[in-house]
Amino acid sequence: MRIGWLKAGWLLAFALGMPTGTKAGAQKPMVAATPPMGWNSWNFFAGKVTDKDIRDTADLLVSTGMRDAGYVYVNIDDTWEGKRDAEGLIQSNEKFPDMKALSDYVHSKGLKLGIYSSPGPQTCARFEGSLGHEEQDAQTYADWGIDYLKYDLCSYGGVMRQQALDDAAAQNKLMREAYEKMHQAILKTGRPMVYSFCQYGDDSVWDWGPSVGANLWRTTGDISANFDRMSLIGRSQAGLAKFAGPGHWNDPDMLEVGNGKLTRDENTTHMTLWAMLAAPLIAGNNLTAMKPEIAAILMNKDVIAIDQDALGKQSDRVYAEGPVEIWAKPLTGGRKALAIFNFGETATEMRGIGLHLKEAGLTAQVSARDVWAGRDLGKIGDGWKTAVPRHGVVLLVVK
Ligand code: GLA
Repeated sequence: MRIGWLKAGWLLAFALGMPTGTKAGAQKPMVAATPPMGWNSWNFFAGKVTDKDIRDTADLLVSTGMRDAGYVYVNIDDTWEGKRDAEGLIQSNEKFPDMKALSDYVHSKGLKLGIYSSPGPQTCARFEGSLGHEEQDAQTYADWGIDYLKYDLCSYGGVMRQQALDDAAAQNKLMREAYEKMHQAILKTGRPMVYSFCQYGDDSVWDWGPSVGANLWRTTGDISANFDRMSLIGRSQAGLAKFAGPGHWNDPDMLEVGNGKLTRDENTTHMTLWAMLAAPLIAGNNLTAMKPEIAAILMNKDVIAIDQDALGKQSDRVYAEGPVEIWAKPLTGGRKALAIFNFGETATEMRGIGLHLKEAGLTAQVSARDVWAGRDLGKIGDGWKTAVPRHGVVLLVVK
């Protein structure tokens, strides 16, 4: 009888795709096997975000098709935090009257909920941080049903300086320990959560982040919705490819597609660059006013497939000529994505840009598809040239 129940439980867990844990050698599904996809409140709503904004966003992720395109995490960034109660338990503030109810709502839509805190006494927006309450906070998040934590250094930088003035190595040790502390606290809850580091790429975080639990780590300071900042961040990822892979990703920050005054070509370049970088695709726009042009960029299935490719290889720059850069990303099935960017101020129609297949590791002619145009190009070789608009890109998948 007992064995029967155990077996039934295991079969049910298996049918539901849950970790079984009971069978020898059974593996828990990897957290962030492909770069996480979702939406975060900061880039558009910043400190004004409310419970209603999160519910509206959840509704719209479903009705626009974004959820089904892969954007499943709905992440509340800074400014949800209230005070602690007498036992030290963190409370949400008046903008978020009932976190558990909000979480249930988000989950009822087939989505997952993310939250934000800091290892310091205060977050970057000067709300309550987790210092000294790591286990309590992780357990509170688990009780609420949180699936993703962005942990932002903020005021912990001050703690590091105070405890180890002028000693960079000791400060780095403190930072690693702070991230590891929350990592252990999350593990203790038993609830799988994506663990997202935000410490702006300091101390070569890509080297040590995974060893203290990072599923993703910010590689730079904050993005903003302008082409110069976005492209500077994107281009500065050259050389980081070797640190990324299933379960652990470089994070050049959340998407600004659809924000500010980015043009269509600029939004296309942004989306292409992030997909090539196997970056987390965390949209940051206001879904209540999303234009069809933006929806089409965010939901291009072939571009998302490049980002989410199961090989989990980040691209690197293979060729640069002034403002023109070609990046290559290995894909499953022996394919490669090649992105030809024009970061310059003028279109390249006069001359055209060659493919530079040799630099991308390809010797002969290749079959190519122009991804954004949705068009097969047949066989092309090194002699093939294309125009690329100002701040624009041509994205090919070749084999
Ligand atoms: C930092 C982070 C941002 C955002 C804000 C919130 O600046 O880098 O992404 O989370 O804090 O205060």
